[in-house]
Amino acid sequence: MKTFYVTTPIYYVNSLPHLGHLYTMIVADAVARRKRQRGIETFFLTGTDEHGIAIERAAERNNRTPKEQADYVVSYYKKMTDAFGLDTAHGGYDIFMRTTEPFHYAGVSEFWRRVAIAKTPKGRNALYKGHYEGWFCAACAAYKTEDEYAKAATPEEAPTCLVHETTLDRISEESYFFRLSDYDEALLSLYESRPDFVQPEARRNEVLSFVRGGLQDLSVSRMNTSVSWGIPVPNDPKHTMYVWFDAVTNYITAIGFGNEQQQRAVGFEKFWPALHLVGKDILRFHAVYWPAFLMAAGVEQPRAIVAHGMWLDPAGRKMSKTLGNTVELDVLNKYFSIDAIRYFCLREMVFGQDGRFGYEALIDRSNSDLASGLGNLSSRTLTMIQRYCEGQVPSASISEEARLSAKRAGVDSDAAALASFIEHARDEFIHHFDNFSFSRALEEAWAIVARVDKMISDAKPWDLAKDERQKQTLNAVLYRSAEALRWLCVLLYPVMPNAASGIYQQLGLKAGLSQLDPAQLKWGELPEGTEIEEIKALFPRIDKAKTMEEIRDQRSEVRGQVSEAAETLSSGRVQSSPRHASEAEAITGIADYIDITDFAKVELRVGQVLTAERIPKADKLLLITVDIGEEKPRQIVAGIAQYYEPEKLIGRKIVVVANLKPRKLRGYESQGMLLAASVGEEGKPVIATFAEDVPNGARLK
Ligand code: MSP
Repeated sequence: MKTFYVTTPIYYVNSLPHLGHLYTMIVADAVARRKRQRGIETFFLTGTDEHGIAIERAAERNNRTPKEQADYVVSYYKKMTDAFGLDTAHGGYDIFMRTTEPFHYAGVSEFWRRVAIAKTPKGRNALYKGHYEGWFCAACAAYKTEDEYAKAATPEEAPTCLVHETTLDRISEESYFFRLSDYDEALLSLYESRPDFVQPEARRNEVLSFVRGGLQDLSVSRMNTSVSWGIPVPNDPKHTMYVWFDAVTNYITAIGFGNEQQQRAVGFEKFWPALHLVGKDILRFHAVYWPAFLMAAGVEQPRAIVAHGMWLDPAGRKMSKTLGNTVELDVLNKYFSIDAIRYFCLREMVFGQDGRFGYEALIDRSNSDLASGLGNLSSRTLTMIQRYCEGQVPSASISEEARLSAKRAGVDSDAAALASFIEHARDEFIHHFDNFSFSRALEEAWAIVARVDKMISDAKPWDLAKDERQKQTLNAVLYRSAEALRWLCVLLYPVMPNAASGIYQQLGLKAGLSQLDPAQLKWGELPEGTEIEEIKALFPRIDKAKTMEEIRDQRSEVRGQVSEAAETLSSGRVQSSPRHASEAEAITGIADYIDITDFAKVELRVGQVLTAERIPKADKLLLITVDIGEEKPRQIVAGIAQYYEPEKLIGRKIVVVANLKPRKLRGYESQGMLLAASVGEEGKPVIATFAEDVPNGARLK
C-alpha cells in the first residue's frame, strides 16, 4: 500500500501560537486529507520544539521550569488544535511530537553517533571539536554572520538580530562543528538531480544561491554551562546538542528512527521519506543543514521541502510575537467558523508568497465566496428540490418529447457541456492543489459555483415550476445543480471538511466523504430519488460593521484584562497582551501615533471598589461596582478573577475607563473597564492604583 508522510515544523514553546503557526497546520491538514481521499495511508506530524536557550529564558521569566513551560504551551496547543479541528479526534494530525519525549532522546543520540563516525563527501570527519567565537540569536536559535545583524552604536554594545530586533549573545566556547563546508557539491547535485526537492521554484533558487555562495561549518553543540536545557552529546555530556540538530531529527525519531517505541508504533521504513512543509523563514535549516546531516548519517533524503510565505499584518509587516501584531486565535475562534478560516488562508495566500491578513478581508471573503457563493448555491438548490420535487433528487433526463420545451427555456437537453466544464475544472483543481497552488485550485472550484449559479439564474426554475410541460426541464436543472454540489463537496473536503460534509449530508449522501477521490468522480452518479435531509445554513452572513467593532473592542479589552474569549478556548491565556503600540495598525492599517486630542477622548477616572463578587460559571470574571464620583456606582465585569480575591478588592482605588461603550459579558452589562498592567507570558493582570490619596471621580490626564 502506498504511504505518505507530511510534517509541519515543530513549534517553539517560548510563546503561545498565533495565526502563522495555525497556517502551516491547516496546509498540512488539507494535504493529508487529500492523500487520504486517494486511499493513501498518511501520517501527519506536528508538535513542539522544546529545548534551547530561548525556552530556558522564557521559563525563567514565567517562574517555571523549562519542562513546566513546555507543558503549559503544549496544553494550549492541544486546546487550539481541538478547537480548530486539527487534532487526531477530528481526523487531523497523527502525532503531536515533543522533543522532550524519551524516545526522541534515544533517536537523536543514535543519529548523532552516526554523524560522529561519518566521513564527508571529501573524505574528512563530518564532526570535529573546535572553538566557536561569534554572535547568536536566542530567538532564531541561529548563529549570525555580519550581514545578518545590525551593528551597535558602540563596540561595547552587542549587535541586534535583524529578524527579532533583540540583542545577540556573544559566544566564545568549545563546540562540536559539523563540517558543512564539505557538503556544497553534494547538496548542489542533490538539488540538480531532484528539481522538486525544494519548492516552489523561487525558494529553490534562494537555496541554490545560498549554497553556491559557499558554506561554513556549523557549530552543533553548546557547553552545558551555557545551555543545559537540551540533549547531551553522547559520550561528552559537557556539551548540549544545538537545538536545531535536535529539532530537525524529530521528523525521523517520531516514526521510529533509533528507537523501538515509535518503530513499533509507526514504522520508519513504512513512512519515510517525508514531505516537509515549512515557512520560508526556516528554509535553510530544512533544505541545507538537514539534508547534509542526513547524508552524513546515511539516511535517505526527504521527499521534498515545500516552503510557504509569511502572514503579514495589513500594514505589510511580518506577524510576530516580538512586534505584537499577531492575529489572536481566540478572536478567530470566536467570530469565524473553522472552515471560513481554512478557506481564507488557502484562498488568500498565493502559496510561497507572503500574504496580508486582515479581519475585514476575512469577513468579505466569508460573505461573498461562502455565504453568497457556495452557501447560497447549496441552499437554493436544496430548497428548490424540497419545494418542487418533494425533497427527492429528481430525474436527470429529458425525454425526446420534452426537448423542445427545454430548448425554449434555454436549457440544453443533455448535460454534456456542463459536465465537461465541471470535469475540466475538477482536473485543474486537482492539478493545482497537488502542486500546492491552493488559491488557483479554489478559483477553479468557484468557477463551478459561478457556472451552476448562472445555469439556475438563466433557467429560472421558479418559472419552470409554474408550467407542467416544463417538469422535466425543471428536474434536469435541479439534478444538475445537485450533482455539481456533490462534486464540489468531494473537491472541497480537504479544504473545508465540516462544510463539505454538511452539504453532502444535506444532499442525502452517506458514503464516507473523506475517502472519495475527486479524480474518480463520474458525472451522473448522484442517484435519482435520494431523499435530501433537513436544510441548514452553513455559512451565516457576518455583519461586517458590528463584528469589526466587536473585534476592535475585544482586542483593546485584552490589553489590560483577561479576554472573555480566552475562556472559550483555553483555561490558560491566549496570547493577548500586545507589547507594541502599533497593534491597532495591524487591524485598521492606521499609523501608530495618536495626538493629544485622541488621548483626550478617553475618559479615565479614579474609582473605589464598593462590591466585588465572582460570576457563576465564569472562572475568570469578577463583577464589581465602583464609585467614580457619579450619582450611581458603575458596574464593571473584569477578567481578573484568577488573580484577585473579590473580598480583597473592596475599598481599593482603581482607574476606570469611564466612557467606554457599555457591553454585555456573560449576561452582565459592563459599564467601563478597569486598567491593569499585563505581566509575563500569561498576561497576569496587575491593577493600576495610586500611592497617594485621591478622591473618587478625579480625572486622569
Ligand atoms: N522550532 C522551529 C522549527 C523547528 S522545525 C524542525 C521554529 N519554530 S517557530 O515556532 O518559531 O515557527 C515555526 C513556523 O511557524 C514557521 O516556520 C512558520 O511555518 C510558522 N510561522 C510563524 N510565523 C508565521 C507567520 N507570520 N506567517 C506564516 N507562518 C509563520 O522556527
